[in-house]
Amino acid sequence: MAGHTVRLVTIERIGGRELWIQPATLRDLWPLARLQRTCFEARQAYSLFALLALWLWPGVHVLVARVGDELVGCIVGDQRNQHARVLNLCVRPDWRRRGVGSVLLAALERECDAELYTLMVEDKNTPAQALYRRFGYVPVAEVRHYYGRNRHGVLMQKRRGERSSWQ
Ligand SMILES: CC(C)(COP(=O)(O)OP(=O)(O)OC[C@H]1O[C@@H](n2cnc3c(N)ncnc32)[C@H](O)[C@@H]1OP(=O)(O)O)[C@@H](O)C(=O)NCCC(=O)NCCS
Repeated sequence: MAGHTVRLVTIERIGGRELWIQPATLRDLWPLARLQRTCFEARQAYSLFALLALWLWPGVHVLVARVGDELVGCIVGDQRNQHARVLNLCVRPDWRRRGVGSVLLAALERECDAELYTLMVEDKNTPAQALYRRFGYVPVAEVRHYYGRNRHGVLMQKRRGERSSWQ
């Protein structure tokens, strides 16, 4: 991006390519909204407006995963005092199962550096739950109908000392 530098949170090698994790820029929000629509059903996908509001909100982190010019994933989280929440995580379907989600989650946890990390995941979303369990998150409560009728949420959490990693 000419004349504009964006902080690099981390860089990893995935399948011979460099994966860059960076805070989202304003111009990332349009492709991010497209990525949301690709990864989530309509009512769960963050709109451009929602992404803009989150991007502007103090204490919210919006990180993107790039390979070259392509945006292949994102994570959104927030932090208040020592409590951090993972609000949203997604990876483009053709980039899944290569570690991108794990790199994003690890990066967000480092950015927040909190005592307690929590997130909500749908009870039927076994891929995401598997990823979170690998990171040390454990289910602590069920929130009935959180995602709609008969679609329950699982509240997962971990404490700083319980941190594990994907590597
Ligand atoms: C959940 C999601 C972000 C995972 O991203 P990803 O880049 O594929 O995750 P990783 O490659 O880092 O996976 C790490 C581990 O998580 C588990 N995992 C990830 N996807 C899985 C799947 N489809 N089935 C079973 N386990 C899975 C595995 O243990 C995996 O390790 P392995 O590949 O060595 O077996 C991705 O599937 C996604 O975007 N899903 C749609 C959006 C979504 O549901 N987001 C979460 C909302 S709470």
